Amino acid sequence: MAEITAFLLRGLERQEYRGYDSAGLAVDLLQAGSPDQRAIHIVKKTGKVSILSAAVKEDPAIDMALSLDQHIGIAHTRWATHGAPLDGNAHPHTSDPSNQFVVVHNGVLNNYLVLRSYLDGAYALLFKSSHFPDEIIATRRGSPLLIGLKSAQPLRATHVGVDVDVGAPQHPALHMPTARGPGGPGHALSPLRDSLPLLAADARPLPYFIASDPAAIVEHTRSVLYLEDGDVAHIRKEGINIVRTTRSTELSPVRAIQSLELELAQIMKGSFPHFMLKEIFDQPSSSFNTMRGRINFDSYTVTLGGLSSQMDTIRRSRRIVLIGCGTSFHACLASRAVLEELSSVPVYAELASDFVDRRPVIFRDDTYIFVSQSGETADTLQALRYAKSRGALCLGTTNTVGSSIARETTCGVHINAGPEIGVASTKAYTSQVIVLLMIALVLGSDSVALAPRRREIIDELRVLPDKIAEVLKLNEELESLTEHKLLKATNLVLMGRAFQHATCLEGALKIKEIAYLHSEGVQSGELKHGPLALIDEHLPIISIVVPDAFLEKSMNALYQVTARGGRPIIISTTDVDLSSVLAASEATGQASAAAHSASTEALPSSSGVLRSPRVGGTGDPSRTAHPTGTDITLPDEDQLLDQQPISHKLLAAAGGPLQCIRVPRTVDVLQGILTVIPLQLVAYHLAVKRGFNVDFPRNLAKSVTVE
Ligand code: F6R
Repeated sequence: MAEITAFLLRGLERQEYRGYDSAGLAVDLLQAGSPDQRAIHIVKKTGKVSILSAAVKEDPAIDMALSLDQHIGIAHTRWATHGAPLDGNAHPHTSDPSNQFVVVHNGVLNNYLVLRSYLDGAYALLFKSSHFPDEIIATRRGSPLLIGLKSAQPLRATHVGVDVDVGAPQHPALHMPTARGPGGPGHALSPLRDSLPLLAADARPLPYFIASDPAAIVEHTRSVLYLEDGDVAHIRKEGINIVRTTRSTELSPVRAIQSLELELAQIMKGSFPHFMLKEIFDQPSSSFNTMRGRINFDSYTVTLGGLSSQMDTIRRSRRIVLIGCGTSFHACLASRAVLEELSSVPVYAELASDFVDRRPVIFRDDTYIFVSQSGETADTLQALRYAKSRGALCLGTTNTVGSSIARETTCGVHINAGPEIGVASTKAYTSQVIVLLMIALVLGSDSVALAPRRREIIDELRVLPDKIAEVLKLNEELESLTEHKLLKATNLVLMGRAFQHATCLEGALKIKEIAYLHSEGVQSGELKHGPLALIDEHLPIISIVVPDAFLEKSMNALYQVTARGGRPIIISTTDVDLSSVLAASEATGQASAAAHSASTEALPSSSGVLRSPRVGGTGDPSRTAHPTGTDITLPDEDQLLDQQPISHKLLAAAGGPLQCIRVPRTVDVLQGILTVIPLQLVAYHLAVKRGFNVDFPRNLAKSVTVE
């Protein structure tokens, strides 16, 4: 295989998580018999990069590809949003059968019908032409694009940030086809547009690498330059020129060379079979990295350098609004209450897409925090632009330095979780929750009354990585539970309340997206308002019951479910006494005509640290219709306590013991991190056991840069 194709294919593999419906590449071939003549050759295939790779290997023409230092190759992986994943829809696209111009692009050209009159939509484009063999044009709007430079030296100062407002580009003339169209090699060329501001021009040794994701190029260079919306980069042997096609006053005129902190090992799976599993197991270290250098555990101080200049403004905000999509939205939900508690400012969480649809009222003294792992999500970006245009203070929290959200917000906090490759977000979620919690801690730092609460949280943050490591030891138990209790499920309900509601929504999303199992996260206070109708002995349920201020209510929800024959898997902490629930479940089981065989180990008898709440509490009638139609009476609390310890005979009658996963206890605002990890692992094992591709779930992509 030619060196150039090996380069391109490896780059595609590294960023395949961004889209994997089809892939393609274009390289220059020497024309047989005429060494001066070149032709662009395209190979593209539906399916994963491995399929393209096989096609390239079998393609005899590829042997004629020019060497790496002689020409430019372009390649692309596609996530199909418009048009089926077919060979014909794969990139590169071409102008004509002889491939005079070929193009790869990210994004959706929504208004392709009016495209000729006015360019719109989100895109990142690379153009390559047989007429200009050693040149490439790269441009972006709305979709990320970066240029890797082989030499680590910075751009020469005289050329960095020089914003030549009018006049032709100063440095080597920028050559583009004339309006007459290309005239073949050696055709007379003219500058792009005389009035374009030149941002940077530089001559340095080839090769340059152009990619939409640093992962694609990190093994070749660490020096990168991120293009901004409207930038057009012209790259050729003699060097690189960047011009700006918009006169935005918002965008910096400087395109600084940044150093990638990404390590190659971080984007490799190591000994793990899947990125998702690796990333779940990364969480002791990723959570530590999120806090590193920011929390002083001895002085109980939290310093977020990125926000320091805006802290007073945030404290004086009329409202704080957290905005994100999917998992990032769940992180907003998980953190909303503590932000409100510690800041004393009303806090709201919004789904970016809904926010954009509603275009709600925005006050100039509002603070918006945009939460996004990738920093490129189109819905979140749109919401950001809307809030910004209305004068609100806009902050960002992302996992991607240099991303659009990082650049377009006034300031922010990176989550520093390390690259997340698995399409299902795991470690980014836990780090997002930690970052939002750190923001809350900073906002509450000037309150004496809140000092004990802050200390309690900071003490628990100190030991959080160790507690996460403890949870990860449950992996095998969770795998077996998944196999025995969930593998054949067709629906699943996850229930919890307060901080645990977000955990349920997030767990349900993970299970949906990679195991393709319909699962629903229910706020358990809502059970009696509808979802209770779903409950019977057949519906798998996961219930989160933790020792927070809402324990009694969570227990009541459990009784409501067990009273209807539901046999929830309970996720709890090591110190919660669940024996009364077990007894109630047994009582229901005894009344049932059907006796099932006990298949799993009995629930460990509890230490009884916490008092059992009353049976038949809020909304839970003590007399209820059994699913089989038999009327049963639930025991009251004293009866339940009398029944301990529970015999195995009784358990068998109740359809086997309820299964309980016990995680370490932590402070309420962090407990969701320890309860979500078992759900991440359940989703993972479920997907593997169902034979699905965990890292590349169907129809999804890692970074959703389209609306
Ligand atoms: C689910 C998942 C998605 C993303 C969502 C937002 O596992 O990863 O729901 O959370 O697409 O993406 P970011 O965080 O990049 O804005």
